[in-house]
Amino acid sequence: MTPFPAAPPFALRARLLSPVTDGTTLDVMDGLIEVDQRGRIATVGAWPGAEAPASVIDLRPMVVMPGLVDLHVHLPQIPNAGLGSGLDLLTWLDRYIFPLERAYDRSVAELQAPSAFRAFAAAGTTTVVAYAALWEDSTDAAFAAAEEHGIRAIIGKVMMDRITYDTDIARNEILERSLRQSDDLASRWHGRDDGRLRYAFTPRFAVSCTAEMLRESAALAAHHGAYWQTHLSEDAGEITEVRRHFPDARDYLDVYDHAGALGARTILAHAIHLSDREVARLVDSGSSVAHCPASNLFLSSGMMPLGAYRAAGIPVGLGSDVAGGPELSLFSVMRAGAVTQRVLELSGRADPSNATRPSDWIRLASLEGARALGMDGEIGSLEVGKEADLIAVDPRLTTPLPGDDPRLDADDVFSRLIFRPHPNMVRGAWVRARLLAGPPSFDGIG
Ligand code: GUN
Ligand code: ZN
Repeated sequence: MTPFPAAPPFALRARLLSPVTDGTTLDVMDGLIEVDQRGRIATVGAWPGAEAPASVIDLRPMVVMPGLVDLHVHLPQIPNAGLGSGLDLLTWLDRYIFPLERAYDRSVAELQAPSAFRAFAAAGTTTVVAYAALWEDSTDAAFAAAEEHGIRAIIGKVMMDRITYDTDIARNEILERSLRQSDDLASRWHGRDDGRLRYAFTPRFAVSCTAEMLRESAALAAHHGAYWQTHLSEDAGEITEVRRHFPDARDYLDVYDHAGALGARTILAHAIHLSDREVARLVDSGSSVAHCPASNLFLSSGMMPLGAYRAAGIPVGLGSDVAGGPELSLFSVMRAGAVTQRVLELSGRADPSNATRPSDWIRLASLEGARALGMDGEIGSLEVGKEADLIAVDPRLTTPLPGDDPRLDADDVFSRLIFRPHPNMVRGAWVRARLLAGPPSFDGIG
């Protein structure tokens, strides 16, 4: 077995598939991608024949693509994946999730986070935007695991000063302590390893946070130049609770707007049930939406009108939202998203002439996810000068019978990855051209 290259510089021969910043899709059937000493993409193009560099690793018939960006996941919830389908959000949180998060102390995080990051790499995800639990020490342990593993990670300690599972502390001390601990974590981790690790201030959602918590966390995020993430308009019961707690707000988004929390470094998960005013305000503010269709089906939350949001100009990427979503793989999330859009089209609530194609789903999971993070100049596509966050995928595993048709066009290859995914089809994943630890199938070509 030929081992995959572990570190830069290296050159790979493979089929190259990628969204491109100009809106097109790169498809080079027999391609060469070279990464330089610093882990940046130096060349992308057709196999140059006699001009090829002396040392090349031949991955054919594998496909090299950009690594995927998961904009929304909950690390402590991963062991619950697949449990509790069909419950409404607030019951599910209470029954399944809060007990699990409460138990996510440093020792649990030290045990689970390294396997979680290996599992993300195995699913083709090279950037994760994650919620930890309420605890500073286990958030710190999750960062340390990401630092060691090599994945690109944006993580935050969850903040809750209204409905909370932090019952060992006096109510009036929660706010101050949560702000101080989040501030300390951001000072320690935001920007670590040249920006591979970043901090996201993470008030859970308006149901569990006071106006003061929302406002002060947004001020701290601005102070650090860090991200601010929360949930928005996911479920009917949640929306009713927000109206009850914030009777003066115009709508759900207005609660966050009032806190000064909207902007280009803000990531809002779900955002399913929005008014036209909220859509317009999201666009104006430059805030991003983490679309989590697998979760939205699993918890019966609703169907986000993706086409309308994109036409309005909201930056949208994809999130697994495990454990709201049952699977870590963004390819599964794309399939759930495609099914959701098909149902909306069939019921006359989306325009079929704007249907989201397989290459659009891959773009959402890579370049658009990077754009939502303001990182589309650095990652998200196979373009010269970008950091080499790559995956190698074996499309042979996605065919119904042995034997592949190498003439499939890019949309058809992507269609198979989305609609017929195989658990081992991602064979390698690199961040800045450093091979990430994953399952044994990552060991090489053979
Ligand atoms: N809203 C507030 N907390 C959560 C959570 O943990 N998961 C989901 N899906 N929605 C939430
Ligand atoms: Zn979530």
